Amino acid sequence: MKKQHIIEKIEKLKKKRNAVILVHNYQIGEVQAIGDFLGDSLGLSRKAAATDADVIVFCGVHFMVETASILAPEKTVLIPDPEAGCPMADMIDADRLRKVKAAHPGAVVVAYVNSSAEVKAETDICCTSANAAEVVASIPPGKDIIFVPDQYLGSFVVRKTGRQLILYPGYCPVHRKLLPEDILRQKESHPDAVVMVHPECTPDVIELADEVLSTSGMERLAAASKKEEFIVGTEVDMVTRLRRDNPSKSFYPASDRIVCPNMKKITLEKVLWSLEENKFEVRVPDEIRKKAKRAVDAMVATG
Ligand code: 13P
Ligand code: SF4
Repeated sequence: MKKQHIIEKIEKLKKKRNAVILVHNYQIGEVQAIGDFLGDSLGLSRKAAATDADVIVFCGVHFMVETASILAPEKTVLIPDPEAGCPMADMIDADRLRKVKAAHPGAVVVAYVNSSAEVKAETDICCTSANAAEVVASIPPGKDIIFVPDQYLGSFVVRKTGRQLILYPGYCPVHRKLLPEDILRQKESHPDAVVMVHPECTPDVIELADEVLSTSGMERLAAASKKEEFIVGTEVDMVTRLRRDNPSKSFYPASDRIVCPNMKKITLEKVLWSLEENKFEVRVPDEIRKKAKRAVDAMVATG
């Protein structure tokens, strides 16, 4: 089927079903182009909570779709490919978190939104890369804080807030591929460029950055900055979005190897099938959902 034909069918079905398409910034360009809203984890969670659509087609990875379902249980929440997961989120489960909690009784648990609903149900407050420091800073001083699962986002929050955190050894295998040498090489070719990186990068990469931002933070900085050139240390399709929205500015991926294979599983065809066949529905069992919702609501309200 021709691309234009697929897009027309998606548009028609969207109206018929009163559906909204939420798209994460790491999606391929043609999926970005059909999104009603394009954003980072925090922005898309807020959209999911606020929309009056009956159906949400979420082009992102599983934890994002699950979070939308936690926030909007009365809606049909669909993921176009059920295999689109997040290996960092899979590095911790509820059992492992309960063991960490047992070793630190009384500690407040902060979970990065890149985690399962079961982990969120064991959590006091969730955060995203856009508000992790604010979430940690909102916890009364003197409290022990467990931070799961991303050790690098956690270390960045320690640096930003001065608070001590009990870290868990999770990480994003995609961002971990970005090396200081990649940044240094790009800096040599583009000495005037602003270096912006995602806080999932390792501390030695973060050390070399001018700005450490969530994906929507990068979008806002690029639009507002007087600078013309940017080195982008995150998933390569972030550059697709930045180039499209800022055609007069130049964006260079810090490395072409920073590709999240799970984000790339969503295609235009799968979005169409999702709307046609009402699949794949993501729903969180009520008992887990109610517990997880408190932590997610607190996240959405912060920052
Ligand atoms: P953002 O919330 O910054 O878009 O990041 C999500 C993510 O999974 C980064 O790898
Ligand atoms: Fe998960 Fe990393 Fe992909 Fe983000 S980039 S969805 S953290 S694997």
